[in-house]
Amino acid sequence: MSDLRPENGATKRVRWAQAFPELGTEPIPTDRCLSPEYFALEREKVFKCVWLKVGRVEEIPKPRDYKVKRLDFANTSVILVRGEDGRIRGFHNICSHRGNKVVWGDDTYGLRGTTRGKSFVCHFHGWAYNLNGELVGVPQEELFFGLDKCQNGLPAIATDTWEGFIFINLDPANKQSLKDFIGEHADRLAGFPFEAMTAVYEYYTVLNCNWKIAWDAFSEAYHVSTVHAGSFPGVFDAEVKQVGMYGIHHGGAAHQKPSPPVSPVAALSYQLATASIAKPGFRSSLPARINPDRDPDFVFDQSAVFPNFLVHVSEGLYFTHQFWPVSLDKTLWEGIQYFLPARDAGERFSQEFGQVLQRNAWLEDTGTMEATQSALSSGVKKFFHFQDGEVMLRHNYQVIEEYVNRP
Ligand code: FES
Ligand SMILES: [Fe+2]
Repeated sequence: MSDLRPENGATKRVRWAQAFPELGTEPIPTDRCLSPEYFALEREKVFKCVWLKVGRVEEIPKPRDYKVKRLDFANTSVILVRGEDGRIRGFHNICSHRGNKVVWGDDTYGLRGTTRGKSFVCHFHGWAYNLNGELVGVPQEELFFGLDKCQNGLPAIATDTWEGFIFINLDPANKQSLKDFIGEHADRLAGFPFEAMTAVYEYYTVLNCNWKIAWDAFSEAYHVSTVHAGSFPGVFDAEVKQVGMYGIHHGGAAHQKPSPPVSPVAALSYQLATASIAKPGFRSSLPARINPDRDPDFVFDQSAVFPNFLVHVSEGLYFTHQFWPVSLDKTLWEGIQYFLPARDAGERFSQEFGQVLQRNAWLEDTGTMEATQSALSSGVKKFFHFQDGEVMLRHNYQVIEEYVNRP
């Protein structure tokens, strides 16, 4: 290892800057989170072009089950529906007659339901679309003028799944498969039993910050001893480990300090334990590439799927974060925890304790974001200064920059 060291003369070796010299060490312009022009480019060249996770297969398990998700960055709402053939398809939620939304309701986070019959029926004049998106019913059809029903279905969106996560791609010209988009990053998580973890706890809120301010706050461990002094005092190691770069995606791992303090209620919970992020459980085994050395202080692995999806896996649980741009300085954040179903009351208590602890940590994380955006908006500070452990943030900014500069 060379003597690449932080400029302040610290003696600690700079590990990730050396492993990934292509990411550089320069400060990053704050304008990336403040410029309306840059945000417009992100909407058009990133979010409207790449595969985006919008759900899980367990949310719509049976034929006729659907989920509707609003995507503010594209001024659209999408329907994901499981057809009679078991396949999940995606459509824009817009009627071909006069453009009304076909499925109504609060689609901010994800409206779920089951169609009454085998079709969606527009509330306005009753046009009906089957689960394949085809227009199958038009009241007073004989009064239209050469209406071709075959050409007027719900606009289809490319939809595919990876590890049970449902993805869409809004770009009609996109030629890249989801498999190719995920690429070798898929190997890191292959074999994790996502589908078995069906006890789900969901949180979401709209934050007054740029989507990257939210994403950044979950992409490093530097903040753990300050921001998480309340929820996890003295628990986490502030160094990110096992960082891997996989093209536009990356991964890393969080560890705890050896023998961290344990509160009395946490101790009780751990005796009854299934799992929590501060006390990994024992009911599932991690695939070989996660915590490959089986370090006892490993807490969770963090995979970032570009551009806005984080999936963290641990023993007996996983959790995800997602950051949806609403506008330049508004972001819909979604945090979801998934556990193996509890087998008895003790496990149920333990699981609830773990998920509340995690929720409290997320409140601490999200608590920084609006203040950051507010202060940045003064324009006083022109650059962010990332240390070695903030390498995953550096990677995010570099990949976004590559996308927005594409012709
Ligand atoms: S707008 Fe949908 S049926 Fe008229
Ligand atoms: Fe955090």
